[in-house]
Amino acid sequence: VTVARDPISGRGNLGYNRMLRIDRTHFGFNVNEWRDVGTFWKSREDPDAPFPVVLAIGLDPAVMIAAGVKTPVDELFIAGAIRGRGIEVCRATTVDVDVPVDAEVVVEGLLHPTVRKSEGPLAEFHGYHGEPWNSPTFEVTAISWRDDPIYQTIVPGSFEHIYLGNVLPREPLLRRFVRHLDPAADVHIPPYANGFLAVVQIDRDNPGGPKNLALAAMAAHLNVRHVVVVDRDVDMYQASEVQWALTNRVHWPEDVFTVPGAQGHEMDPVGNLRGIGTKVGFDATYKRERREYGERVSYPAVNLSNYLS
Ligand SMILES: Cc1cc2nc3c(=O)[nH]c(=O)nc-3n(C[C@H](O)[C@H](O)[C@H](O)COP(=O)(O)O)c2cc1C
Repeated sequence: VTVARDPISGRGNLGYNRMLRIDRTHFGFNVNEWRDVGTFWKSREDPDAPFPVVLAIGLDPAVMIAAGVKTPVDELFIAGAIRGRGIEVCRATTVDVDVPVDAEVVVEGLLHPTVRKSEGPLAEFHGYHGEPWNSPTFEVTAISWRDDPIYQTIVPGSFEHIYLGNVLPREPLLRRFVRHLDPAADVHIPPYANGFLAVVQIDRDNPGGPKNLALAAMAAHLNVRHVVVVDRDVDMYQASEVQWALTNRVHWPEDVFTVPGAQGHEMDPVGNLRGIGTKVGFDATYKRERREYGERVSYPAVNLSNYLS
């Protein structure tokens, strides 16, 4: 987890940045657009000057979940809310940044925004190794660790990466956007689609409603490129159920719409290098007004102990 401090307001920030070792004291440090750490160094009088950051390794899961959230407050407050108590911090030894005291290993250093090096390819959330990026370099100024430290890593390009970065912090955000339109709507970001897909579940009422909800979900977070809107009789947590709705409830010419030239994530493998791509909405709800098919087949659950002894 990267810990930094806003030079203007003084508030802290948590995030994640992949790093590629260059030599014993230097790493390539990946920063996508709109990350707070990048906004911080650019907001200074001299945006090219070295910028202090700390890497905290081996942390309370509450801190790790909070670090995936993008918000203009110090994510340590979110960690404290999850944990039910404040997260204790202490000042780093060579840079002016506060780090959680429970960290197993703390690496302090300076980001050099203008010293760019090729960094990557590394395993990414989309499931590819991706391409190298021309990234700032991080210079280590101090390392400290607990006795017998546990080196905790995150397996990149796996569900762990996706849950921390794309599911846990984003579902509440999307829920807020869609519930602005429909207070009863539910949202799921399935990990199997790497954060590029959101499923919205509703009690269908107005025939135009599903498309508006899809627009709200794709606007809520730039990674979301596909939105499928389903009814309550579809289990949105099961990929096979979502696929069933897509196959049996979508008449493509009427129920699919695209938003070309929309902003996505710049690592999205189907967008361009600035993340510009086409977002797609699928109204996979049952359109009774089009054709009546009755209810879905379902059978009552069987209690096997009534039959087997
Ligand atoms: C395991 C993991 C690795 C990540 N790697 C990077 C990265 O290399 N570069 C980047 O810009 N964001 C990366 N992210 C995403 C951001 O750090 C994260 O979304 C963070 O919340 C940004 O919020 P902030 O702008 O408030 O700091 C990663 C997220 C996770 C969970």
